[in-house]
Amino acid sequence: MRDIPSPRTGIIVAIDGPSGAGKSTVARLLAERLGYVYIDTGAMYRAVALSVKRASIAPEDEVALEELCRGLEISFERDSGGYRVLVNGEDVSEAIRTPEISQLTSRISTRKAVRDVLLHEQRRMGRSGNVVLEGRDIGSVVFPDADVKFFLSASAEERGKRRFLELREKGEDVTVESTIAEVAARDARDEQREIAPLRMAKDALLVDSTGVSIPDVVARMEIIVRAKETERAGTVPAGQGESR
Ligand code: DC
Repeated sequence: MRDIPSPRTGIIVAIDGPSGAGKSTVARLLAERLGYVYIDTGAMYRAVALSVKRASIAPEDEVALEELCRGLEISFERDSGGYRVLVNGEDVSEAIRTPEISQLTSRISTRKAVRDVLLHEQRRMGRSGNVVLEGRDIGSVVFPDADVKFFLSASAEERGKRRFLELREKGEDVTVESTIAEVAARDARDEQREIAPLRMAKDALLVDSTGVSIPDVVARMEIIVRAKETERAGTVPAGQGESR
């Protein structure tokens, strides 16, 4: 149940799915096409992980984690090259994308103290709508009443290869095998954790991006969201609305 009464006026789009399915790129492009705000909830968990590392807090120390999270102000800023992630005003966009922080993020995102604080924050950021939120539990937990829910996936091999290319481009010393194994380990942890595990919401639309180009995936999603906007505006003749 949502804990904040919503004065929602716009559409909420939820995009969930496992690592490396192309969620971030797809969600960002979709938000741009629609003129919506883009919220990368994975970046928020990563920002917490970076802060945990810097503060030398044990990932199991719930009390310290909660105190840390409450003192963090995480925000997003658009720039010409995309968007930046800020923690208490500091640009951490690059620092949160290392393999070490990926692994630590996967660990601290299982902690209730962290999830509670970020859940509240994500609801606050998205509640007025015209927003694309991307993560693992948006359609199932953060906004179970989202207007459109997508579950974006791709084969494990393809996801591992995509992640490998991304990391190599950034100069990371990784192999395809180690990256596929890292992606699989994170998937397993995300799917098996007790709180808000990665799971497709019952009313989500499954989009398989294996072998499909990013622009095609975005175009397909845009049609569905536009149909929802039209339906919401009440301009569709009876029987022609998009049903979910
Ligand atoms: O999407 P990403 O790879 O940036 O996510 C980083 C980690 O954060 C990943 O291990 C799963 C976790 N995460 C989560 O638990 N819930 C979310 N809503 C988003 C990400």
